Amino acid sequence: MADKLWGGRFKKEVNKDFFEFQKSIHYDYKVVEYDIYHSIIHVSALEETGLLNKDEAAKLTSALSDIFSEVREGKFKPNLDSEDIHTDIQNRVTKKLGALAQKLHTLRSRNDQVVFDAKWYCYREGLYISSLLNVILANLNHLGNTYRDVFLPGYTHTQRAQVVSFIRYTGAFFCMLERDFERMDAFLKKSSIYIGSGALAGSTIPKEAYSEALKKFLESSRPEPKHSKSYTVKNPLDNVASRDFVIEFLSILSILQMHLSRMAEDFILYSTKEFGFFDLPEEYCTGSSLMPHKKNPDFLELLRGNTGKIYGNLISVLTTMKGLPLTYNRDMQLDKEPLFSSTEVLEQELKIIAGLIKGLKLNKNRIQQALDDEELYATELVEFLVHLGVPFSQAHTAVGKLIRFAEDKKIKIREMSDKELRKFDQHLSQLNIKKIMNPEYAVASKKSLPAQKYSTSKRSPRSK
Ligand code: ARG
Repeated sequence: MADKLWGGRFKKEVNKDFFEFQKSIHYDYKVVEYDIYHSIIHVSALEETGLLNKDEAAKLTSALSDIFSEVREGKFKPNLDSEDIHTDIQNRVTKKLGALAQKLHTLRSRNDQVVFDAKWYCYREGLYISSLLNVILANLNHLGNTYRDVFLPGYTHTQRAQVVSFIRYTGAFFCMLERDFERMDAFLKKSSIYIGSGALAGSTIPKEAYSEALKKFLESSRPEPKHSKSYTVKNPLDNVASRDFVIEFLSILSILQMHLSRMAEDFILYSTKEFGFFDLPEEYCTGSSLMPHKKNPDFLELLRGNTGKIYGNLISVLTTMKGLPLTYNRDMQLDKEPLFSSTEVLEQELKIIAGLIKGLKLNKNRIQQALDDEELYATELVEFLVHLGVPFSQAHTAVGKLIRFAEDKKIKIREMSDKELRKFDQHLSQLNIKKIMNPEYAVASKKSLPAQKYSTSKRSPRSK
């Protein structure tokens, strides 16, 4: 058991099983960078206040910067005997500086640290997720444009409905993911970092000292939440008690996951022998250990399956937070694993699906076979008749009967004589059947739609 940040009032050693049970170091080491930020800012505020002299502050800052460099160089290994990341950093500084390190935690609470760290984590990962979404938006756009002359049967109830252009199809996913991007952007814009809550009641360190310390820190070329409005606490009780930012972040990820799962399902379906529209890039599929012919869409299936975990993580934090008395409660430590889990899963999925979209190929022959299905144009026939003045329900019934007749007789509408056609409606003839029952007409006849342009140019790419 490593040194703890508490213990003075205790006569007995903490129970070993309980100590193991309550530790968070095995996951909260992931916010190590932000925890070091908190310490650097705190040291600077202590110096401003006169609680540390210049030399002490410089030594502490330099020890913290050394640990930060270890993290950045990938050399940092958390000591899993520590209670949490805050304790681990404290113990490292103690190892480097001895007694002086005892001043690092002066007038500070882990309650303030942990919320600071988690907010910064959400901000930085949110930026990265936005940049991954940008790549997907660009790849969807590119895919749509590559096959801009292709049409596709559109579905409702997984039954053939009406013809759409392929670029409109990819555009649907583009629009969904663009809204996810915008949701994340709004989250990033309002994210702020706060410091100085103390345990819950505020701190005797003046807010000016914290503001000055934060200003100095942010000017020292460290990554900054660009949209942060406020750097001091609005309300310390709220600050240490609230995790709605985690819930909001997980909600954004859950909606994004729901969209990705729908894309995955369409791609799985359209790449089956039964549909045969899409050819998935091999690099994202796996084979069968027994059936040599198989090319299985395992990535897409795992993505679809992950939806349970992503929703579960959101529900887990929502439920943990329900009914908690103000302010900080240890229950809240349990927000980290769901937060990290959803973030990491989404980042993997987004990275991989971007490549899959890039490598997706269309099987134009199979698509053409499907487009030959005359039923796909039944609605266009109705609309054509309506524009000639036939009442809608009359046109609907007439075309319904025509479709049923052709189905029962196993004949093509395209091969019926004008005389036969006119039995269903006097305006029908082979000439207009040929004009109407084709994908170009079906798509071009839709006048209610905006131009098919999905632009990614206005988005500023962001890196982690
Ligand atoms: N590991 C804790 C968490 O993640 C840090 C805060 C601990 N605070 C306390 N009063 N025990 O929430």
